[in-house]
Amino acid sequence: MDRVSRFYTGPGGLIEAIGAALDGAGLSRGSLRTMDLAAVDEFHIRGRVATLEIIEALSVGQGTRVLDLGSGLGGPARTLAELTGCTVVGIDLTPEFGAVAAELSRWTGLSERTTFLVGDATRTGIPDAVMDAVMTVHVAMNIADKLALYAEALRVLRPGGRFVVYDVLQGEGGDVVYPVPWAHEPSTSHLETPERMRQLLTSTGFAILSERDSSDDSLVWFREVREKIERDGPPPVTFAAFLGDAFGQMAANQVRNLAERRIRTVMYLCERPARQAPEAAST
Ligand SMILES: C[S@@+](CC[C@H](N)C(=O)[O-])C[C@H]1O[C@@H](n2cnc3c(N)ncnc32)[C@H](O)[C@@H]1O
Repeated sequence: MDRVSRFYTGPGGLIEAIGAALDGAGLSRGSLRTMDLAAVDEFHIRGRVATLEIIEALSVGQGTRVLDLGSGLGGPARTLAELTGCTVVGIDLTPEFGAVAAELSRWTGLSERTTFLVGDATRTGIPDAVMDAVMTVHVAMNIADKLALYAEALRVLRPGGRFVVYDVLQGEGGDVVYPVPWAHEPSTSHLETPERMRQLLTSTGFAILSERDSSDDSLVWFREVREKIERDGPPPVTFAAFLGDAFGQMAANQVRNLAERRIRTVMYLCERPARQAPEAAST
């Protein structure tokens, strides 16, 4: 197994653990909504709040097709499908995540509009220009060849389609303190600065429509999550179900990395430029 997917693969029994946690919380599978799973399947900083921002930026509707590169347990894909009526294909390197994502879609009644493939986001095998939009959420931190990742997004996107990248970037405050929720140590962690990200996206061929640094909001979000846990206790199931006991230290390091500006959370809204009209091209 690839070192990255080994990092994300837990001791097994993930779907059973999620099911038991839902049962314990009195949540019936028959009426499950995407927001009931957010503590475990929105695996990125600022969770569902960030996913709602991404959905607004993608601006897709009923009948459109969206690709999620590095879809994890499928929280962003399901939330997008539930709220907009679009169809989402997710692809992820970690086989266990793909299987659990498909089961969670069954539980939320979203199997018809979400499909999960196991594979590399830099080589999806999806035909050219068939997607109305593409997103990637907290994935490129594990991918050294970001040009290959963004070139794949551009290739599968129709001209005029939108691409949203929400990722963890290298800050100016120094080296990342490990472990973090995407790596135990630097060899599988590949962070770029905001400046380099702009170069990568534009040299791939994207037009950047907007860039938003949400790092201050990310710190507030971590504080609020901690206060909620102190007040109400932990949610029934958390990322510790697959990241194990190290998750507590990873979360503490994330707060330190953000506070010391070692990492930034940034969202880029990009567009694949539309083809030039033939008459415009000839003048
Ligand atoms: C932090 S999780 C984010 C999951 C999901 N996007 C979300 O926000 O809930 C990172 C995910 O990226 C996946 N990943 C890392 N490298 C990948 C690659 N080259 N191709 C596909 N998936 C990859 C991992 O398996 C993991 O599921």
